[in-house]
Amino acid sequence: MKNRNVLITGGNAGIGLATAIALAKKGANVYIVSRNQEKAEAAVKQINTEAGNNTAGYFIANLSSQSSIRQLAEAVKAKLPVLDVLINNAGGVFPTFMKSEDGLEMTIATNHFAYFLLTNLLLDSIKKSDYARIVNVSSNSHYKGKIDFDSFTAEKGYFIMKAYEQSKLANVLFTQELAERLQDSHVTVNALHPGFVKTDIGTKGTQWYASWIWTMMARIGAISVEEGAKTSIYLASSNEVKTVSGKYFDKCKTREPNPLATDKALQKKLWAESERWCRI
Ligand SMILES: NC(=O)c1ccc[n+]([C@@H]2O[C@H](COP(=O)([O-])OP(=O)(O)OC[C@H]3O[C@@H](n4cnc5c(N)ncnc54)[C@H](OP(=O)(O)O)[C@@H]3O)[C@@H](O)[C@H]2O)c1
Repeated sequence: MKNRNVLITGGNAGIGLATAIALAKKGANVYIVSRNQEKAEAAVKQINTEAGNNTAGYFIANLSSQSSIRQLAEAVKAKLPVLDVLINNAGGVFPTFMKSEDGLEMTIATNHFAYFLLTNLLLDSIKKSDYARIVNVSSNSHYKGKIDFDSFTAEKGYFIMKAYEQSKLANVLFTQELAERLQDSHVTVNALHPGFVKTDIGTKGTQWYASWIWTMMARIGAISVEEGAKTSIYLASSNEVKTVSGKYFDKCKTREPNPLATDKALQKKLWAESERWCRI
């Protein structure tokens, strides 16, 4: 990974930060994307200290906003003409129905549309790399997911986990369709489940009881962020997966995804809807 340029969204906390530290230790130039300047600066300091180098950096962007993602992509292209690895990792859960400034339900906006738009905007920079890997952090929650295109904008029957499961299924559908579109290129793209990981994802913006349940469950059953980052690190850095693309990984092993994720018609419909909403 020496001198490879790696961009990690949501690299200021949780699994993203642990991934950033590990890849920086392998010699990569790690750039995190954060929506908060203070958190970004603290994370970069921690990455540089723990990796014992001075090559980490940050970009500021709100990944729920398509205009912010477009500004981010321009800033990344100006700073890094060649991008070796893109890790789409930032994500969240949203207890109540909220719309992004683009008119999209917040979970699908942040967890899927950000992956879709940022990847497409940075694809030319990734193609310039002889390494060229895209890693999409999904979840085993996708096995329960269904895609309801109306729910991308309509409030009817909103439930936090239903929205999250849908967004994580969208990550796998997007990964498979992108891999097919890139099959004649050297660029690889894979999705993964990090495990049930002790992070603050279930406490951000959630009601006190949901936050309490998450904290208790995490205390009992969750793995550390270092453990949870292992599959992201593997897909970003291992020679074993140099030419592997379009797969779903769990514990650094391929695993069959939800059969819905391999539905070609659904992959193409999601791609077309995503293009329409992102105006690309
Ligand atoms: N933890 C688990 O058990 C688990 C299981 C399966 C999959 N995952 C997936 O793993 C990924 C990382 O989650 P995590 O558990 O590490 O959660 P986390 O600790 O909350 O980290 C999420 C990261 O995403 C960032 N983020 C969220 N919304 C953003 C936005 N609109 N703009 C910019 N950055 C934003 C957060 O920034 P802030 O610090 O500013 O909030 C944070 O840096 C997610 O995709 C999640 O779905 C997690």
